[in-house]
Amino acid sequence: MADTHVVLITGGNTGIGYETVKALYGSGIPYVILMGSRSLDKAKDAISKLQSEVSTSKSEVVPVQIDIESDDSISNAVKEVESKYGKLDTLINNAGTLLFNYTLF
Ligand SMILES: NC(=O)c1ccc[n+]([C@@H]2O[C@H](COP(=O)([O-])OP(=O)(O)OC[C@H]3O[C@@H](n4cnc5c(N)ncnc54)[C@H](OP(=O)(O)O)[C@@H]3O)[C@@H](O)[C@H]2O)c1
Repeated sequence: MADTHVVLITGGNTGIGYETVKALYGSGIPYVILMGSRSLDKAKDAISKLQSEVSTSKSEVVPVQIDIESDDSISNAVKEVESKYGKLDTLINNAGTLLFNYTLF
């Protein structure tokens, strides 16, 4: 476990973040995947969905509460990751909202 790559995806409960979690979870490579979410309930629901969509995985997926607009939330997440894993190998800072409309064509 100490050698397992630890990756945190913010906004991991839906959209591109969820698809990133799913790609890692189904990759066949063992990761500790920290599914960042503003709401632990949303993360737990998303993990249930993930486990119904991907039946076998070498990875562990764990919910982590993190709101990137809250310094307290970020500090708490850092403390949680430090105490449980002692490291973070990769941060995928996906969380956010698209604030404008655009069209490709
Ligand atoms: N989709 C596109 O075409 C596109 C294009 C360019 C860039 N992007 C960028 O890619 C990222 C993901 O896009 P998406 O389409 O997957 O968006 P999405 O489906 O709306 O998902 C956004 C995710 O970010 C979370 N989030 C929003 N504000 C947050 C905050 N303050 N702290 C923590 N989490 C927060 C949301 O949490 P809740 O579920 O709690 O709302 C959700 O999990 C965004 O940063 C977006 O700007 C997307």
